[in-house]
Amino acid sequence: MLDYKPSNTLLTDRIILVTGAGDGIGKAAAKSFAAHGATVILLGRTTTKLEAVYDEIEQAGHPQPAIYPMNLEGATPNDYNNLAEVLIKNFGRLDGLLHNAGILGSLTPIEHYNAEQWNKVMQVNLNAPFLLTKACLTAMRQAPNGSIIFTSANVGRKGKAYWGAYASAYFGVEGLMQTLADELETNTNIRVNSIDPGAVHTKMRTDAYPGEDYTALPNPDDIMPIYLYLMGQDSNDVNGQALTVD
Ligand SMILES: NC(=O)c1ccc[n+]([C@@H]2O[C@H](COP(=O)([O-])OP(=O)(O)OC[C@H]3O[C@@H](n4cnc5c(N)ncnc54)[C@H](OP(=O)(O)O)[C@@H]3O)[C@@H](O)[C@H]2O)c1
Repeated sequence: MLDYKPSNTLLTDRIILVTGAGDGIGKAAAKSFAAHGATVILLGRTTTKLEAVYDEIEQAGHPQPAIYPMNLEGATPNDYNNLAEVLIKNFGRLDGLLHNAGILGSLTPIEHYNAEQWNKVMQVNLNAPFLLTKACLTAMRQAPNGSIIFTSANVGRKGKAYWGAYASAYFGVEGLMQTLADELETNTNIRVNSIDPGAVHTKMRTDAYPGEDYTALPNPDDIMPIYLYLMGQDSNDVNGQALTVD
């Protein structure tokens, strides 16, 4: 999949919302979608980071993006509905939704896992994608071909000691993805899939593996072909699939 070579106009005129767009994989995805013609809505919790991505996209001459600061940890259903209203009002539809924002929590045995920490990870990594998807479906139904991409992880497909809430949340995300994909299979043009990006050199990866030699890891830009494939029309027939960056 990493040898996928899309045309520069793959996402022309597409309206795509990316969560966690200020850093790491989300930043690379937002820039890559914009470079392929999309108008990108940059959602994240740190406005200065979103502004930096905005400036990079604008300076590169790609379609003007939009910034939507939002902390997914404390966001309420009302906040998501407000966002969906803004989308409809300004763009009339939503073609793509990349759920990318995530937090690591702590690497701790379940027996000692802090309950407050557990709830935070569940809120950002699982509940937020549910609430955001629910709010955005009306806007996505207006798109000729919609794509929803959930981010997952290998520990969300096969449990691993000490990955606690992070692993459990992504098992939930995979279930959410499959359920939604099945529901939208008929009578909509919206496809729903998940990506496990594999080990990628980002702040989260460094937090999880502080002593690791990161020079051997791919950078976020290196894994963009799979994101472009799932976001663009070449994957119109792909639904309910859990993809992995090899
Ligand atoms: N890197 C890997 O090796 C790897 C492997 C498997 C899965 N993943 C998954 O891939 C996704 C991206 O990871 P990454 O490595 O790029 O991580 P990252 O560099 O830590 O970036 C995460 C992004 O999510 C945002 N975010 C976190 N909490 C948020 C909240 N409460 N509200 C809004 N935005 C929030 C962060 O905002 P700030 O910039 O403001 O902190 C940041 O922009 C995550 O879902 C992660 O679990 C990564």
